[in-house]
Amino acid sequence: MEKGVPMCLVTVLLFALTCSLASASDPSPLQDFCVAINSSTSAVFVNGKFCKDPKIVTADDFFFSGLQIPGNTANRLGSNVTRVNVDLLPGLNTLGISFARVDIAPYGVNPPHLHPLGTEITMVAEGTLYVGFVTSDPDNRLFTKVLNKGDVFVFPIGHIHFQFNVGKTNAVAFAGFSSHNPGLITIADAVFGSNPPINPDVLTKAFQVDKNVINYLEQQFK
Ligand SMILES: *[C@@H]1O[C@H](CO)[C@@H](O)[C@H](O)[C@H]1NC(C)=O
Ligand SMILES: *[C@@H]1O[C@H](CO)[C@@H](O)[C@H](O)[C@H]1NC(C)=O
Repeated sequence: MEKGVPMCLVTVLLFALTCSLASASDPSPLQDFCVAINSSTSAVFVNGKFCKDPKIVTADDFFFSGLQIPGNTANRLGSNVTRVNVDLLPGLNTLGISFARVDIAPYGVNPPHLHPLGTEITMVAEGTLYVGFVTSDPDNRLFTKVLNKGDVFVFPIGHIHFQFNVGKTNAVAFAGFSSHNPGLITIADAVFGSNPPINPDVLTKAFQVDKNVINYLEQQFK
């Protein structure tokens, strides 16, 4: 009996873990489609988001136009990501897929970031990108590749990755995601630009640098 209780606890914990892992990716759709709608007044099914009544769904709900237009890269990073997720294309709701266009100027970067809810597959359409991702602790192994036009690379779900333009011309890439909304955590913005800021004592200790360095970094991401 002594061992019965802990075993039961372990079972419950394992079950909880399995459940949380299972719900970490988009659910399988329970119907042909579920066009996302913000208001519940004219909605029918519930599967994560309200769905538009199929009777009033139109082709436009499955359509997005404008991905031929480059994003403006005249910013401090020299990059711009145009996301076509469920917010812009409501027909993606519950389908476990979405898309993006990535523009990067020469020496610009799509900085280290991760998508908590989706794997990303990227194809370079123009230019040359140096890309990579880092594996989990304790290995923290870096996988990198230089991608040219037509090359494809996959960034596994939840891993920190980046794309850097090492060419002399603008780079364009298109990316697919295994989620209708893969989410985005940009490391520098999250750590040094949080609102309110993380106490500098925390970051000074965590990054093993002088407090001035942390203050400086926090200024950059305000
Ligand atoms: C990305 O490009 C779009 C379209 O040109 C622009 O509206 C937006 O401000 C740009 N974003 C950044 C971060 O520069
Ligand atoms: C629903 O709300 C989100 C967030 O406010 C907005 O970005 C999106 O455009 C809205 N979608 C529709 C279909 O109205």
